[in-house]
Amino acid sequence: MSAEVCCPPLPGSARDWWQTAVVYQVYVRSFADSDGDGIGDLDGVRARLPYLRSLGVDALWLNPFYPSPQHDHGYDVSDYRGVHPEYGTLESFDRLIRDAHRLDLKVLVDVVPNHCSIEHPWFRAALAAGPGSPERAHFHFADGRGEYGELPPNNWRSIFGGSAWQRASDTQWFLHTFAAEQPDFNWRHPDVSSYFEEVLRFWLDRGVDGLRIDVAHGLHKADGLPDHEHAEHDELTGDPINPHAWNQPEVHGVWRSWRAIAEEYSRRTGRDRVLVGEVGLLDTDQLAQYQRPDELHQTFFFEFLRAEWDDQALHDVIDRGLGTIAGSGSSVAWVLNNHDMPRSVTRYAGGAPGAGPGDLHLGLARARAAALLMLALPGSSYLYQGEELGLPEVTDLPEHLLTDPMFHRSGGVRRGRDGCRVPLPWTAAHDSFGFSPDGTRGTTWLPQPDWFAEHAADLLLGSGDSMLHLYREALALRHRIPALAFGDFRWLPTEPGVLAFTRGDGLACAVNCSSRPVCNPVEGVVLIASDTEAGEKLPANSAVWTLLPDGT
Ligand code: NOJ
Repeated sequence: MSAEVCCPPLPGSARDWWQTAVVYQVYVRSFADSDGDGIGDLDGVRARLPYLRSLGVDALWLNPFYPSPQHDHGYDVSDYRGVHPEYGTLESFDRLIRDAHRLDLKVLVDVVPNHCSIEHPWFRAALAAGPGSPERAHFHFADGRGEYGELPPNNWRSIFGGSAWQRASDTQWFLHTFAAEQPDFNWRHPDVSSYFEEVLRFWLDRGVDGLRIDVAHGLHKADGLPDHEHAEHDELTGDPINPHAWNQPEVHGVWRSWRAIAEEYSRRTGRDRVLVGEVGLLDTDQLAQYQRPDELHQTFFFEFLRAEWDDQALHDVIDRGLGTIAGSGSSVAWVLNNHDMPRSVTRYAGGAPGAGPGDLHLGLARARAAALLMLALPGSSYLYQGEELGLPEVTDLPEHLLTDPMFHRSGGVRRGRDGCRVPLPWTAAHDSFGFSPDGTRGTTWLPQPDWFAEHAADLLLGSGDSMLHLYREALALRHRIPALAFGDFRWLPTEPGVLAFTRGDGLACAVNCSSRPVCNPVEGVVLIASDTEAGEKLPANSAVWTLLPDGT
């Protein structure tokens, strides 16, 4: 591969914490249970803050913990300013953020503006008020088609499968781009934007350092909600994806006003607040539009997560990612795992939910190498809980226990996301692997397989070559070596199958994506390796960081 300069160093003024932070995603329901009901909670997170501190992350992002009937595990919010009783109270949230800040950990919360829950007071009022009422104007209600209004108002499909419309108990239908329990707000109504600005201020006033924004390319729908004609089709269900439900130009105005609010708080309090968007667009140029200097600070770069384990594919994706920086003035938010995707160990192993685990030895080797690759790239990284434990996906959860609306709405065609949400193993020798307090014998909300013991945090802490140690050492090096945050990025020439690049003058990362050993293209002192055999040779599916001799 050819040598080229791809990404200049970040200018000094752009060195805000979030530009280079490593953020740990906490799926609250599955992280740690403090009260023995088998469901994770905020006090459980608080008790594990020292673990996150010693892991070396800079911040945590909490998945939704708000009051919710849990049809989509909290992404169906009935009260945007509270805490669901299973997860604690506002006081437990305040304790959590206070303790996190004491440990110098920042806290991001999740906000879900595209849709709410059918139990949200506005939606209840809309149902009660009937067709034509001002209450219904907060959502997308419309009359059905067909002689008796028995057909949905247009041909849009839900992302989780089936029609995107649900019939109310009268002549009208309401729009839900996800589950039927998640009605979409009408963002063309001024009440909706004012409401969410208050929600934003509520959490900023409570001290959060940022917000992760769900479906940030959603919100506005094409005016008139027209049928789509040329939709792309979902590869699994065959459902057309609604082009008119996403990425409408008006949405950028929302992000400009939210950015102004975040900047106001940053200025007023002297603490930078960040807005990170979940923008499900794979077109990098379109994605970059969402992180222009006066819009969201960052958007997740999911192309990296979706890339095959292949040097050319990864090279191209990294180039596209870093290209967005030049275009947007922001930094890339790299992601290998999250609560919506099968875990990387399983993906790289060729396994999949419902289809078996694949070759986990191979998957783990690649996931270790991918971690070093990601953590050496310019920008920030978002880790998903359990990634540092090398957890594979649980691919064989019995169907009757699956809770994901995606599984049910797709008629089982999509297995859903439960397999990456199984409660974490903390200690190998305790009930529920230490997820719930010892002696409480609470049944975890999803069953943990016996092999979770091999991934328990206490066991991995005692083993010097574990995945947990790899993450801890790599994160410690990120803190110690400024070039990893601020050094410019330069590809090095390599043989096929191999990627190598430098950060600043002092450090190089080399990755062997091939299935045979190769010569390490970089000379110097190996700082960290994903494979204990790595040195002058790079074993198959391995990566190293090398300290370069001065001036190279
Ligand atoms: C994206 C979230 O990450 C996912 O978990 C959720 O189901 C959908 N948005 C709907 O809120």
